[in-house]
Amino acid sequence: MRVTVVGSGFVGQTTAMRIVQKGLAEVVLIDIIEDLPQGLALDINESSPVERFEPSVVGTNDYADTMGSDVVVITAGFPRRPGMSRMDLLGKNAAIVRDVVEKTAPGSPEAVLIVVTNPLDEMAYLAAEVSGFPKQRVMGMAGVLDSARLRYFIAGELGVSPLVVEAMTLGSHGESMVPLPRHATVDGKPLADLVDGTTLERLYERTRDGGAEIVALLQKGSAYYAPSASITQMVNAIAADTKEVLPVCAWCTGQYGIDGVYVGVPARLGRGGVEEIVELDLNEDEIAQLRAAADGIRSKCADLAKL
Ligand SMILES: NC(=O)c1ccc[n+]([C@@H]2O[C@H](COP(=O)([O-])OP(=O)(O)OC[C@H]3O[C@@H](n4cnc5c(N)ncnc54)[C@H](O)[C@@H]3O)[C@@H](O)[C@H]2O)c1
Repeated sequence: MRVTVVGSGFVGQTTAMRIVQKGLAEVVLIDIIEDLPQGLALDINESSPVERFEPSVVGTNDYADTMGSDVVVITAGFPRRPGMSRMDLLGKNAAIVRDVVEKTAPGSPEAVLIVVTNPLDEMAYLAAEVSGFPKQRVMGMAGVLDSARLRYFIAGELGVSPLVVEAMTLGSHGESMVPLPRHATVDGKPLADLVDGTTLERLYERTRDGGAEIVALLQKGSAYYAPSASITQMVNAIAADTKEVLPVCAWCTGQYGIDGVYVGVPARLGRGGVEEIVELDLNEDEIAQLRAAADGIRSKCADLAKL
């Protein structure tokens, strides 16, 4: 299994490290900055005797080295600075994602693309358009991260381990995130029986603003530990063909009454990418929120064409 990680910044380098430490694949780490991916690859590989993994990261600035990849993770692009919305990155990052996909897709025509660059939903659409790949082989990472943040906040609120908390967010990566209180559980008990409505709303708001909270604290750049863990879970599902259902930004073809747009939905992941969009039992309000998120993404994707 060969995974290319494009962009050797904070998200890219931590993703490369997690993938090889878990023994999921060999990783080609690439960036436009000369010597950066080579230095990072050397450093990660040098930790292999201690961490006990195969030292299989290759750092490069040459796209020829990415040929024949099974999965391509795109993290190249600018992160937010304090006060910025993800949408403020649209113009600059669209140019970068277009460039990266034009350079990677021809050499890895069978790859599954996982887009991470923000604004996430729109960049996933752009990557699908530029690559020409079947849409089930192009997806975005956001829901696993948002759900992890929510699970962590719920665990903190209730003083339990995050491992006993199940929760999923759908919709867009940002303002139109759709939390699903009816589907969240703690130790198998419905979350709504354990906390009141005001507390739930506070936890959702913190999750929705979870990225901005970290941007404000770091001052330079955005989150990368939880994002790289989330990407790695998706890579594992694809590489090991686990068929697990994860919330990912996927192309909808009528599910939930949504057609022809990328939006966060539960998807079964395997070697073929998004192998099924799973339709949960959502109530009218939840479906309305999901459709509103999809409409918002659709209109932003139309803006992409004007750039
Ligand atoms: N989807 C999510 O949930 C999520 C989470 C975290 C970060 N992000 C996004 O991921 C992106 C990367 O974040 P980061 O913290 O790693 O940023 P970073 O600034 O640390 O790294 C970005 C890297 O991309 C490289 N790059 C720029 N243009 C390139 C090109 N044309 N080809 C190859 N490499 C190029 C840069 O040289 C840099 O090393 C940002 O857009 C950020 O907003 C998304």
